[in-house]
Amino acid sequence: MSDETPAPDDPDFSDGIALSKVTDGMMLSGHVRGEPAILIRRGDRLFAIGATCTHYGAPLRDGLLVNETVRCPWHHACFSLHTGEPLRAPALDPVSRWRVEELGGVVFVREKLKRAPRASVTVNAPASVVIIGGGAAGNAAAETLRREGYSGPVTILSADKFLPCDRPNLSKGYLAGVAAEESVLLRSHEFYRANAIEVRLNALVISIDTDTRSVELSDHSVHNYGALLLATGAEPVRLNIPGSELPHVHYLRTLADARTLVARAQTARRAVVIGAGFVGLEVAASLRARDIAVDIVAPGAIPMERILGPRLGTYIREMHEKQGVTFHLGATATAIDQRGVTLDSGERIETDLVVIGIGVRPATILAEYTEAYNRVSALVVQPPTDLLSRAGTLPWYGQEYALDDFIVYAFYGHKREHCAQIAVFRDH
Ligand SMILES: Cc1cc2nc3c(=O)[nH]c(=O)nc-3n(C[C@H](O)[C@H](O)[C@H](O)COP(=O)(O)OP(=O)(O)OC[C@H]3O[C@@H](n4cnc5c(N)ncnc54)[C@H](O)[C@@H]3O)c2cc1C
Ligand code: FES
Repeated sequence: MSDETPAPDDPDFSDGIALSKVTDGMMLSGHVRGEPAILIRRGDRLFAIGATCTHYGAPLRDGLLVNETVRCPWHHACFSLHTGEPLRAPALDPVSRWRVEELGGVVFVREKLKRAPRASVTVNAPASVVIIGGGAAGNAAAETLRREGYSGPVTILSADKFLPCDRPNLSKGYLAGVAAEESVLLRSHEFYRANAIEVRLNALVISIDTDTRSVELSDHSVHNYGALLLATGAEPVRLNIPGSELPHVHYLRTLADARTLVARAQTARRAVVIGAGFVGLEVAASLRARDIAVDIVAPGAIPMERILGPRLGTYIREMHEKQGVTFHLGATATAIDQRGVTLDSGERIETDLVVIGIGVRPATILAEYTEAYNRVSALVVQPPTDLLSRAGTLPWYGQEYALDDFIVYAFYGHKREHCAQIAVFRDH
């Protein structure tokens, strides 16, 4: 986290600062009556916004100015200089902003500006919106609808047991035991209540009927919609080998999975992690932080080589080895039993906990059974890049990809390695 108190020699912008010191295209650090701020000049326009990213507190002055937005240096959230609003994931809340005025070559930062209330959107707005998926994308879509002034009913139907959470934290701080459970939830029950967003948990949608504009849940209840968003994200690839269904074998996707894993980690002495991708490596590091012996099994010669290249992959392996992780590379697991994992070489690793992290695949099954979706699946799989910049904006404002009765949006998670999709069935 960045420091929330200004440095002693940082200027107080409310006292005024010479315009000549505010260079075009640069971010100047300071504070406004004790609150860290950055002052920015873009041509003849001046902006003052909060200095700290509302996601995990990165210092925005180290980020990038792009037109009249600032990009966070850590996970690339994007904030509007005009409104302070987050324009891109993963940030959900706006940064502060202040009124700026120039008088005789001196720039003064005045009072803090309130978030402008949005006029209610009624033109072309659907009677209601149902979002299938309670991950970051579903949550962002619901929040954006409210932020952009949609006032009809918004319902999130989530197969998850818990409210939308920050999945990246599950394998890091939460599993390592340094992040509390409340901190991984994206929003509280109170937030959804206050914003009139209904979140239905354990609500697995099993079919979509675009003729009657309804979805059916696994308990056979039927839910009507005006417009439907699919934000079903991804699900872990399952390993199908003897013993892979045993109770001490785990996957990590949901908060429920993470809870189970944390409980198991209380008593486990030794763990085998199958897969050396992001999730596998992070799980290994977090289990090491709990002083559990960890072996990683993966088919490649170097972890993450395909994505990061051999040098960085080797560096990552060495870092983990320094923390006591043992790698079994160029190896695959062929069987799991109560006390160990057997590799294709015949080698056996004793263990009382197995975590499988061998990748995810987009959860498209539901959509694939929807006839309309099939006509646009190519767009979902390989979206045009400008669609990316629209993730999180009001879907029915984008007209370019409207095909008859629906539009398809691609939404990327915090980075681009995991693509999720939002298909929007339009209201006529
Ligand atoms: C442990 C872990 C660590 C990660 N670390 C990082 C990281 O460091 N950086 C990064 O960029 N990304 C990371 N990711 C990936 C990131 O979390 C995903 O990109 C992101 O969660 C995608 O969000 P989403 O909302 O599109 O989909 P998901 O989070 O997959 O959410 C999909 C939602 O849809 C629901 N759903 C699916 N089918 C149905 C149905 N039929 N009916 C009802 N609901 C349904 C699911 O229950 C879920 O609520 C990590 C993921 C995990 C699991
Ligand atoms: S800290 Fe800014 S996007 Fe994560």
